[in-house]
Amino acid sequence: MTAETPLLDVADLQIELITAQGVVRAVDGVTFTVHRGETVTLIGESGSGKSTTAMGVLRLLPEGLAVISGSVRIAGHDVVADPDAARGVRGRTVSLVPQDPMTALSPVHTVGRQLGDAIRLRHPSLSRTEARDKGVDLLKQVRISKPETRWKAYPHQFSGGMLQRILIAIALAGEPELLVADEPTSALDATVQAGVLDLLMELQERTGIGMLMITHDLGVARLVSDRIHVMKDGRFVESGPADRIVERPAEAYTRALLAAVPRLGAWDESAVQGAAS
Ligand SMILES: Nc1ncnc2c1ncn2[C@@H]1O[C@H](COP(=O)(O)OP(=O)(O)O)[C@@H](O)[C@H]1O
Ligand SMILES: [Mg+2]
Repeated sequence: MTAETPLLDVADLQIELITAQGVVRAVDGVTFTVHRGETVTLIGESGSGKSTTAMGVLRLLPEGLAVISGSVRIAGHDVVADPDAARGVRGRTVSLVPQDPMTALSPVHTVGRQLGDAIRLRHPSLSRTEARDKGVDLLKQVRISKPETRWKAYPHQFSGGMLQRILIAIALAGEPELLVADEPTSALDATVQAGVLDLLMELQERTGIGMLMITHDLGVARLVSDRIHVMKDGRFVESGPADRIVERPAEAYTRALLAAVPRLGAWDESAVQGAAS
């Protein structure tokens, strides 16, 4: 792989879902790339095919219920042609930050156990104590204060904003080059949301990770993206640099998404810290 090879290279991706109501063409020929250090956002109304695109790229759609064609290359590996390649890159080259922190974690295991397991999946030779040290460090990176004292806590003992940070820590445990984040802040209130987005941006600046961000919120997209693809009925209706899409949307559909944006005002760090802890 050369320096120019995109982390994610998607060409004419089509995904048909076999549902009880018949076959749905959820993704109808999308093409995009994500390079190292870039954030590329898919935005669109509910049902436009964003999650299906993300899950298809990760090959996480149920086999037999989803028919995928086109090409998806993750760091050069074609995961459409070769599902084994998908297993090889998932949790290592690419990690998913799931949407709902309340259901993504197991309620019956401590946060430390779940983070420790993710770390030992990547580094099987680490002892539990070594994995714990690494995990505490990851929790610090996602701004969980006093992580040592929280290692043995259960998910219900954390706020939604903290759980979303913990999910980011678990995604980072695989030391990925690419993060796919499906509406990572939509379950959070505006202040906590701003804090989590800020954290993702800071991580990206520090590590050069690439990000595929999914959102229905153009305010979020504008804040974090280099490029935006506007999705409707499984297709991109408009694509371009984030500033251009937000300032001079060409499509009425994009203008309607813009009109729905609640203003994200200035936020103050102490308020975010307070809300998150
Ligand atoms: N599990 C499912 N069963 C049936 N249809 C689904 C399922 N998941 C998604 N779809 C359909 O696929 C299309 C795209 O959905 P989705 O990718 O979830 O959109 P988005 O993430 O943009 O809200 C929609 O028409 C939706 O109804
Ligand atoms: Mg979705």
